Amino acid sequence: MNAAEIRSTFLKYFESKGHQIVASSPVVPGDDPTLLFTNAGMNQFKDVFLGFDKRPYTRATTAQKCIRAGGKHNDLENVGYTARHHTFFEMLGNFSFGDYFKQDAIKYAWELLTEVFKLPKDKLWATVYAEDDEAYEIWTKEIGLPPERVVRIGDNKGARYASDNFWMMGDTGPCGPCSEIFYDFGPSIAGGPPGSPDEDGDRYTEVWNNVFMQYNRRIDENGNYVMDLLPKPSVDTGMGLERLTRVLQNVGTNYEIDLFVTLLAATQDVLKAAGATEIDPASPSLKVIADHIRACAFTVADGVIPSNEGRGYVLRRIARRAIRHGYKLGARTPFFYKLVDVLAAEMGGAYPELVSQQRRVTEVLKHEEERFFLTIANGMEILEAALAVMQQSGSLVLDGDLAFKLHDTYGFPLDLTADVLRERGMSVDEAGFNAAMGRQREQARAAGKFKMAQGLVYSGAATTFHGYDKLMVEDAKVTGLYVDGSPVDTVRPGDDAVLVLDNTPFYAESGGQCGDAGAMQNATARFVVEDTIKIQADVFGHHGRVMEGEIRIGDTIDARVDGLRRAAVVRNHSATHLMHKALREVLGAHVQQKGSQVDASKTRFDFAQNSPVTDAELLKVEQIVNREILQNAAAQAREMAIEDAQKTGAMMLFGEKYGETVRVVDIGSSRELCGGTHVSRSGDIGFFKIVAESGVAAGVRRVEAVTGENAMNYVLQRDAQLGELASTLKVPSSELGHKLSSVLDGVRALEKEVAALKSKLASNQGDALLDQAVEVNGVKVLAATLEGADVAALREAVDKLRDKLGTAAVVLASVADGKVTLIAGVTANLTSKVKAGELVNMVAQQVGGKGGGRPDMAQAGGTDPANLPGALAGVAIWVAGKL
Ligand code: ALA
Repeated sequence: MNAAEIRSTFLKYFESKGHQIVASSPVVPGDDPTLLFTNAGMNQFKDVFLGFDKRPYTRATTAQKCIRAGGKHNDLENVGYTARHHTFFEMLGNFSFGDYFKQDAIKYAWELLTEVFKLPKDKLWATVYAEDDEAYEIWTKEIGLPPERVVRIGDNKGARYASDNFWMMGDTGPCGPCSEIFYDFGPSIAGGPPGSPDEDGDRYTEVWNNVFMQYNRRIDENGNYVMDLLPKPSVDTGMGLERLTRVLQNVGTNYEIDLFVTLLAATQDVLKAAGATEIDPASPSLKVIADHIRACAFTVADGVIPSNEGRGYVLRRIARRAIRHGYKLGARTPFFYKLVDVLAAEMGGAYPELVSQQRRVTEVLKHEEERFFLTIANGMEILEAALAVMQQSGSLVLDGDLAFKLHDTYGFPLDLTADVLRERGMSVDEAGFNAAMGRQREQARAAGKFKMAQGLVYSGAATTFHGYDKLMVEDAKVTGLYVDGSPVDTVRPGDDAVLVLDNTPFYAESGGQCGDAGAMQNATARFVVEDTIKIQADVFGHHGRVMEGEIRIGDTIDARVDGLRRAAVVRNHSATHLMHKALREVLGAHVQQKGSQVDASKTRFDFAQNSPVTDAELLKVEQIVNREILQNAAAQAREMAIEDAQKTGAMMLFGEKYGETVRVVDIGSSRELCGGTHVSRSGDIGFFKIVAESGVAAGVRRVEAVTGENAMNYVLQRDAQLGELASTLKVPSSELGHKLSSVLDGVRALEKEVAALKSKLASNQGDALLDQAVEVNGVKVLAATLEGADVAALREAVDKLRDKLGTAAVVLASVADGKVTLIAGVTANLTSKVKAGELVNMVAQQVGGKGGGRPDMAQAGGTDPANLPGALAGVAIWVAGKL
């Protein structure tokens, strides 16, 4: 049977059992913000399971287009390197909405697999959720599967995924325990049965997952995850069409099924047309491309276009990853988009949108590919240069700033760069990348504001601020309008504009407190305010967008601040005063404010202090601030002459310029000069929690804290995490510390033992290799594999062998997870003729990699183990040529 026949046989079987055949929903879920892409057949029935939606049927069956590349279920990294992972795949499923349950679900699955598809019963295994005795009984008693082939998996409650036999589509939504069916491909493929340490191998492959939907996981009013029972127990199943086809066509990997054979052949053709000359048909790159064209074409057909955020960015990442693999194989002009035609011919029958959208999909992907081809060569050159330096220095982690430069200037998504490094056994400093990205965002934000406020020519009336006690001002007069930095008379729907009023409740960013957001409205127009900044000392610019109607100079309009956001900002600002005072109490009077930034999400406070603040000190600060909050004293703000303010003992910031009149603000026992907006009573802050402490410059520390709802959620989530950890480690949370130390002690002991064993093994094996050395013009040449050795063991063995052999050139290799590691060593008296770096490169090139190092010792990686024996066999001849 080919894939198309298998698809229709599945659907017809369930139709004969009273199921309605329902069309696949798009890969882009229309109305579900919790989901990046459709990741399972049940997505389109989510509301039916939850009881919010009714259908004319209680049994359904589908072949669903799915994407698992981003979000909760993400297989992107595995694609091309395992026999069974895809970014895009088709999921066959049958569903019961409160109709049949475990017994029939299992019986249907068994009958279809063994009677209709005629799979041998003795090759099938089943797993059940650890505590699901009912499913266990059905498998062993009613189906008659021998108990040794029914495995109980997963004994943790809470956030679980399919591998633990508790399936959830995301953090929230319908979920339940499941029972998976595995097919055993036999001992010629590596891997162990489900639940064993080797279960990730390809030998035992999960083909079918039967989920017994019983719960809805959601976040309650307090920010906790809770599980409610569904209205009725239901069934959701999923079987990857590609995997089932692999089983039925009895081929080694999903990529050998009929559907992919055509696609892979076409991939080779388009690559050749684009300049690739010798393509190894077993290269993982071909599989990556054949897989990714399906994800990209279906995503574009369902309305996504490549962009820098959200779904569009996932699409871009997948497309560019595929293009890079083509580039690796030698393609120098666009090739990827040409596969759309082949795909449409192959799958357009089952998915007509591929045909109706064929032109557009081709154009969109072509455009994206042309763009990337403008920068890929330069980017790869920079990356290769960096890799050469790393190989010289023995470093295995690429600098985060460089990875960011590749991203920012050459359009290399982080996972593309990581993919290149992985081929050489290296990785990227992700934290460094994220930090560089954060810095750039911050700069762009600051520059944007600067631009927005700069050079706006204004000579009208000043703005009077009413926002200390009002969130709404009616009939304010529009006294200035700007679009793109230039004054205008009128603004229209869609305009990004800055608007000046004579009176406003909006606080303009100053003193570390962010500007207000909100909306303005009159009978004809509506304007949404995103931020408020000062254009001049007493002129407020409201930055935002016209949503409806026209606004002209001289119009009146009602201005209303977003009260919830303001309340959150105010809580953080008032808490900052209390924290400032508490820090001085705990650390000493040297604590001087050096900077502060308050917005709705948190407060960030920088202050003079040489050493890091200890956890105990932070705890004291938290206690002091929260006690002040509990006392719930009324806050007050008074305007007075600066001399009078000084007499009140209010905290004044050194070096700050204050005007003649100042505002003295009391929150709890703190007293500061401050122009910001504040709570009316300290209790309004609710709750205060420090979330980070760090150094920002010599002698300056930074504390970040949250208040109110944010603080509450922070603590509740921490508590839930602790609970999960405790349940993973199977101890009460009070004993976590104890348990962890003993686990870590155990790990350290094991690590020592492993290292000792490895070194012993390598040295034993190494000695055994001495005999394999051949002599070429008085030089001993040894090229061999050392099973199971890691880089360190290889190095050690090369070192020893080199010493023992006299004048010698040695290359040792090991293979793990489809990747080759190579070390070459040359004795010092030989390096003038034979360089280790050249030697290792000569071998590496034949196994799809590259390397380098010192003249006497060098390292490389590769991705094609199949070519290794041939490459090693050629070493002696190569050395002979150098002598
Ligand atoms: N929804 C289940 C899965 O995706 C069947 O595994």
